[in-house]
Amino acid sequence: METLQKFVEYSQEFSILEISYFVASVLFIVGLKKLSHPDTARSGNLWAAFGMGMAILFTILFHKVKQNDGHYEGIGNLGWIFGGLIIGSVVGWVAAKKVKMTAMPQMVSLFNGMGGACAALISLMEFPHVPQDLVARYGMTNGYTLAVMLGLLIGSVSFAGSMIAFGKLNGNIGDIKAKWLRYVNMALLALLLFLVVFVLLQPEKPEMIAIYAFAILALVYGVSFVMPIGGADMPVVISLLNSFTGVAAAMGGFLYDNRAMLTGGILVGSAGTILTILMCNAMNRSLLNVIIGAFGGSSAAGAQDVDKTVKEITLSDAAILLSYSQKVYIVPGYGLAVAQAQHLCHELDKLLADKGVEVKYGIHPVAGRMPGHMNVLLAEADVPYEKLVEAEDANQEMPNTDVVIVIGANDVVNPAAEEDPSSPIYGMPVIRVWEAKNVIVMKRSMAKGYAAIENNLFYHPKNRMLFGDAKATLQQLIAEIKSL
Ligand code: TAP
Repeated sequence: METLQKFVEYSQEFSILEISYFVASVLFIVGLKKLSHPDTARSGNLWAAFGMGMAILFTILFHKVKQNDGHYEGIGNLGWIFGGLIIGSVVGWVAAKKVKMTAMPQMVSLFNGMGGACAALISLMEFPHVPQDLVARYGMTNGYTLAVMLGLLIGSVSFAGSMIAFGKLNGNIGDIKAKWLRYVNMALLALLLFLVVFVLLQPEKPEMIAIYAFAILALVYGVSFVMPIGGADMPVVISLLNSFTGVAAAMGGFLYDNRAMLTGGILVGSAGTILTILMCNAMNRSLLNVIIGAFGGSSAAGAQDVDKTVKEITLSDAAILLSYSQKVYIVPGYGLAVAQAQHLCHELDKLLADKGVEVKYGIHPVAGRMPGHMNVLLAEADVPYEKLVEAEDANQEMPNTDVVIVIGANDVVNPAAEEDPSSPIYGMPVIRVWEAKNVIVMKRSMAKGYAAIENNLFYHPKNRMLFGDAKATLQQLIAEIKSL
């Protein structure tokens, strides 16, 4: 009995809560590590979600609030808390179940925006509670105020920016390419940073109305920051805003002296930053170039002197070529995702493998519209992970490959990246499919890809076009191969 009593007293000193936060942080890190491989990614998600669930539950059970008379009491407002948890869980569950793979970036953006909004609301709620003793001693120049102001600024920008990114990806909002907006943005950012310093220098807490005005200005900046960025650059911007949300949540961790919030926020912030950098590197563009949005459609692109004759291949010729090859590479791209043809792609791969053809997939890191897009897409169709070969390794094998079939990819197989210094994608690593013995490009037309530049691969002597929607064409190709 005595031991139990001691145990309860111990818990009142927050030790159980602290230990639970430590375990939750470890679960976040293990979950994040597991996300780095498609085989373990699903369980990684569950590990991290379990960590978050545990942190929430233990906070509800063990967090104590110091009352005016000095004694500690458990948290209140349980109805609101559980109401919010239930509504949020149901909405999140249904949305995640219903979302199409191609609409995933929008959903990530929407959910990320909610995180930013939470961080901003926490700051708005906590501003009146900047400890009076701190204010008496140091004025507003203290860590608490700094965390509140930065949480409010970053959270609001992340919320508003994510909503615009969502609208752009969903096709509801267009781009504003006006140059003057960049100057307005720089001025707004400078003003916001000045206001943070201004509030910190005050001897007394400013009126709440001033803080609300600051929040509105930060929201306006969030909108104007994302508006000039090209719609197709949104995945990079979403990753950047995601890292903002992480930093804003970490500010909440400082405010509440909450280790789980702090670790969670820092992990999201750093993972988002690393992902942003990796995406920019894989496109051979700087983050500034993405933000300024001067990408694509260069007049010089594709201006090289090439014979512009396009050769087509018939379904039956393609079926024969593929069936009698020894080694075939499939290079998937955004079009495969749009057509939702991943299952048929796997069927083609199995059919050829049954005929003794060695089939592999060449995966470019930025093929599609989000990081790991092709990996996720093909995993959905149960393509064994060992068959997926990274671009660099695939390039080594190209000269020994009989046929490369490019399905709905364009920029990631564009020779201009290596051959045309005036091209906007010059320097971006690409899969050198033209080094294989034969190339078949499957797409609907001669239309350009994301970078809005011509692709001379289509006119290459080794290439033949198989025009049509990826799903319909794959269906016909499979039928043709079966009939051989
Ligand atoms: P893209 O260069 O965008 O080309 C996709 C091609 O798919 C289009 O040319 C289109 O041609 C074709 N297509 C569309 N719908 C189709 C359908 N139903 N059936 C068959 N083909 C279809 O794609 P990619 O090669 O995957 O390159 C990705 C691009 O996105 C890169 O420039 C990359 O930098 C950029 N990007 C990627 C990311 C990430 S993280 N993945 C993030 C931001 C930007 P048709 O209209 O003629 O069919």
